[in-house]
Amino acid sequence: MGKIKALELADLPQGSMKEVELEDETVLLIHEKQGVFAVCGMCTHAQVHLAGGWIEDGVTICCPQHGGKFDIATGKAVAFPAVTSLETYPVSIENDVIFVEIE
Ligand code: FES
Repeated sequence: MGKIKALELADLPQGSMKEVELEDETVLLIHEKQGVFAVCGMCTHAQVHLAGGWIEDGVTICCPQHGGKFDIATGKAVAFPAVTSLETYPVSIENDVIFVEIE
């Protein structure tokens, strides 16, 4: 599938996140101080939308359902009951547009 236009950078200010549907994938875009990240938008524990959760310390996304946590850069599950990592997607920004690479 390749590189897909996801969102205008202006629509994702630093400190925010937004769920988008790209090629049948639910993707969560997160803009923090260290950059823009794209992870699977569904928690690996019980398929809850992570967009309803919150970011902790600028580095982890917390699931709103049971409090599982994932590293926003690597997708790694870092807090129980989440044990399976989230899929992550390469992000690039060109001319203030966010692109996500989906295979
Ligand atoms: S659904 Fe996310 S931790 Fe349970």
